[in-house]
Amino acid sequence: MSARNPYFATCSPGLEAVLHAEVKALGLRRVERQVGGVAFEGTREDAWTANLWLRSAIRVLERVTRFEARDADELYAGAREVAWERFLAPTGSLVVDARSNRSLLDHTQFVEQRVKDAIVDHFRETTGERPSVDKNDPDMRINAHVFKDRVTLSLDTSGHSLHRRGWRRHQGRAPLAETTAAAMVLMSGWNGRAPLLDPFCGTGTILIEAAWIAAGIAPGAMRSFGFERWNDHDAKRFARAKQAASSKGALPGKLRLLGSDNDRERIAEAHENAAAAGLEGRIEFEVASASDFAPRPGWNATIVTNPPYGLRVGRGDELERTYHDFGERLRRRCEGYSLHLLTANPMLCDRLGFAGAPRQAIINGGLECEVLQVERI
Ligand SMILES: C[S@@+](CC[C@H](N)C(=O)[O-])C[C@H]1O[C@@H](n2cnc3c(N)ncnc32)[C@H](O)[C@@H]1O
Repeated sequence: MSARNPYFATCSPGLEAVLHAEVKALGLRRVERQVGGVAFEGTREDAWTANLWLRSAIRVLERVTRFEARDADELYAGAREVAWERFLAPTGSLVVDARSNRSLLDHTQFVEQRVKDAIVDHFRETTGERPSVDKNDPDMRINAHVFKDRVTLSLDTSGHSLHRRGWRRHQGRAPLAETTAAAMVLMSGWNGRAPLLDPFCGTGTILIEAAWIAAGIAPGAMRSFGFERWNDHDAKRFARAKQAASSKGALPGKLRLLGSDNDRERIAEAHENAAAAGLEGRIEFEVASASDFAPRPGWNATIVTNPPYGLRVGRGDELERTYHDFGERLRRRCEGYSLHLLTANPMLCDRLGFAGAPRQAIINGGLECEVLQVERI
């Protein structure tokens, strides 16, 4: 249990700096920012901590082997050598998920098949039994990453993606991933005390994630993880670690979190999501158009938001007007506020009228997006 393992926490491209700061803040060792995530070293308990506490990470992978493979035989041999029975029961279930880049083994389905065959054959030989394949709810997800003919096989300690916090009851029409919402709040530099506003709040994701940040509630407090179904899992110790992570957290009494959306149905859903996140009555939601956005002057609030960008929600001309009117409202009514706005449409972003403000490129839901960052309106 106390052996040190190499880990890699993955994130959406563009959010590496946020995740890096989070991993550092947890006090983990040998932390290194890379493309698509952050590497660190640690014990399995450190992996528990990472899964329980990282808000912008999507998965935490534990590397079990790395080898060169230019063909199917080398791939099979490398995968078969691992003592898989340390982690998975012979009658358990698994799935292999492969990515390949700049390698001779470039057919990911084939890689998945060969690695799965090697694991199954390893079990047959060593135990006489074989695990089954379950694509939806396996006991173990194995990640095969092939880059420049080097294969890395990792156990996915998270299981389901970490954006699944366990509080979401409604998706709305275009929900922001919880991991990206939390990353935006962290990027904004919000201090957890100033009012935080989302005038296009949809199902409330940004505000709920902000509330959990302000309260110090672990993002993994309400869910389970992949490692809980492994052979070598220490359930008693993990229960204590989870209990400690769950018991932290009270929202500052005077903190104002305000969300509005012009769709009544979304607001009803946001209320239910917030209640499921243990935040009933703590976030003020209302049905209102961002074109009439009129918060109190002098609040020095932080606005973190994700307006529609015409691909899934909203229509062309109407959207241009919405962005334009919202930008005007911000300049007239929100002097001293900061604005952090995610959109996939740079032209609409221009309509807000904050030329020259920095924009951070990120990938959100497979789309190239940018986060406009206006430190002081
Ligand atoms: C991309 S979604 C936001 C999703 C949200 N972050 C979530 O996680 O559910 C954009 C939201 O803006 C709302 N919307 C569109 N036009 C609006 C307007 N003029 N004023 C306020 N809300 C608007 C839509 O109803 C939609 O819920």
